[in-house]
Amino acid sequence: MHAAVDSAPAPAPALPFPAVQALAASDMAAVDALIRRRLASDVVLVNQVAEYIIGAGGKRLRPMLTVLAARAAGYRGDAHHQLAAVVEFIHTATLLHDDVVDESDLRRGRATANAAFGNAASVLVGDFLYSRAFQLMVELESMTIQKVLADTTNRIAEGEVLQLLHVRNPDTDEAAYLRVIERKTAVLFAAATQLGGHLAGLGAAGEKALFDYGMALGYAFQIADDVLDYAGDAATLGKNLGDDLAEGKATLPLIHAMAHSAPEIQARLKQIVLDGDADGFPEVLAAIEDCGSLDYSRAVAQQYADAAIDALAALPDSEAKSALAGLAQYALQRAH
Ligand code: IPE
Ligand code: IPE
Ligand code: MG
Ligand code: MG
Repeated sequence: MHAAVDSAPAPAPALPFPAVQALAASDMAAVDALIRRRLASDVVLVNQVAEYIIGAGGKRLRPMLTVLAARAAGYRGDAHHQLAAVVEFIHTATLLHDDVVDESDLRRGRATANAAFGNAASVLVGDFLYSRAFQLMVELESMTIQKVLADTTNRIAEGEVLQLLHVRNPDTDEAAYLRVIERKTAVLFAAATQLGGHLAGLGAAGEKALFDYGMALGYAFQIADDVLDYAGDAATLGKNLGDDLAEGKATLPLIHAMAHSAPEIQARLKQIVLDGDADGFPEVLAAIEDCGSLDYSRAVAQQYADAAIDALAALPDSEAKSALAGLAQYALQRAH
């Protein structure tokens, strides 16, 4: 009677985060060693700033996605370590630039590079990391990898510029917000996972599944990040709360509250966005809470995480696949 339902493939079991970390540990140690080895420059300030941001840690989530996607695709070589390092270098370059643009002063639990070394050093060392990423990428001698990563970095840059166009725009709606986060965040997740599969020679259908997984996960991850900017704990997060508002950036919680609050509150919220008024944070937080906007945003993030897990159905079952499913849950539950 329920044949259609019964025959649907069961979603991959999701490994808890500590088990994911344990599974990826030896690969990630190799990635980290490679990152350290390939960071070097004979220009002292490059070393100082690059070491400062890379040495602060970070979750290394994107390189972890690359190595797990390669493993889920049955990869047996070691080029996935270098690919993972490329992805982390690109990510770190975007953070150096992003903190200048966002005028942020806390990242990974310490002063941002722009706060510690100035905007000029941050921008220029960001360029160093971008170009170092391309040097490492070229060594992999794959035209597909080069094309995907060239397109991806170009899209990220577009995403950050698109976001800039929405700064202090109180009419930013959910569709515009989703267009920004696809480019600034999700495309790199998608490239990280697709290319892990590509290294393994997975074939078009499998690569598409990993691309879809990464894209959906990237949306979920950024929405969760935007919730944490209102509801997290700065010490745990390693970043200050309220950065988005201070910069006049309307993210999903605030967009939802602007669309669902009473007219006088709505007018006030729009004025705060227009002014990029950091002091309006308590008022915005109250409106967001009254409208259930954090729960709404978490539910949207959950839908993307579920879509990510669904995309994995096209891959054969493995521990690495369960780890990818686990990371989709972790993206939402994380406190930093
Ligand atoms: C921060 O990414 C930028 C966003 C896309 C929200 P992460 O939260 O992965 O940063 P690190 O690398 O762990 O510091
Ligand atoms: C991060 O966006 C996206 C990129 C770095 C491309 P955010 O500005 O939201 O990230 P955080 O909150 O500063 O980490
Ligand atoms: Mg930022
Ligand atoms: Mg943020």
